[in-house]
Amino acid sequence: MMRRMTFGIRMLGGLLAASLGLGCAPLMVETEGHQVFNPDYRGFLTWAPRDWWQEPDAVVRALGLQDGDVVADVGAGNGYFVERLSSAVGPDGRVYATDVQAVMVRDLEVRVQESALANVEVVHSGFADPTLPQDCCDVVFFANVYKEISDRVPYVERLRPVLRSDGRVVVLGFRSDVHGPGPPSGARLAAAQVVDEFARAGFRLLRRDDFLSRQYLLVFGVADIPTPESQSDALSSARQNSAGESVPTALRAASTPEVNAP
Ligand SMILES: C[S@@+](CC[C@H](N)C(=O)[O-])C[C@H]1O[C@@H](n2cnc3c(N)ncnc32)[C@H](O)[C@@H]1O
Repeated sequence: MMRRMTFGIRMLGGLLAASLGLGCAPLMVETEGHQVFNPDYRGFLTWAPRDWWQEPDAVVRALGLQDGDVVADVGAGNGYFVERLSSAVGPDGRVYATDVQAVMVRDLEVRVQESALANVEVVHSGFADPTLPQDCCDVVFFANVYKEISDRVPYVERLRPVLRSDGRVVVLGFRSDVHGPGPPSGARLAAAQVVDEFARAGFRLLRRDDFLSRQYLLVFGVADIPTPESQSDALSSARQNSAGESVPTALRAASTPEVNAP
């Protein structure tokens, strides 16, 4: 049954792409020296069947946002998550919806205006710089974006001053061992690699959620002042696991009780 649905979605995708004349266009394009998602395909980002595998309500719930919180949707594209984030933080909260591509920024602005999202600010960000105010955010969210960042460890280091105390960075990405909608398997980042890169940038894994059939959701916080031993244990454990999808045991053990709560 599931297989038939997946096949149907792929077929529909193929037909739509063909009808739009996109059959041969690459999924990624070079912009200012960086490989980014081809904006010609942006219609697929907000195409209704995505909800079936993306489960956007469950994803936004997993961010743990409260009324009045501030969240950055980095690489928001044409705004698939924006309305949900806007209502999750409420009128006293704020959403920064950022992107590096002018066409995405324009789409975001139109969407924000048409949906009258008064608490959303659109930001044309830099490739190597999140372009967010200091100490602004309770959550910085990367939905299907993190792998597009060129020089990731220094980028993640730049997130530290952006986060409020107890702030979290959440990375949603495609599992490299599952096929289906999303980038080809060679263009996916294993969760263990993401954890390793964040550890190198001074973050620790607080939680991994696997409620989505195709994707992992990783929640990071700034590491407490790391001892040389804890850093090297965490890194060696992450590297040993880098071929697979399992999250390093040493990092799981570092989870705090409150973030492990269901
Ligand atoms: C696959 S799309 C995902 C869009 C959206 N997050 C979603 O889930 O629908 C990736 C987006 O990330 C943007 N992007 C790539 N590199 C970026 C960077 N360094 N900073 C911010 N956005 C970036 C691209 O322009 C593109 O719009």
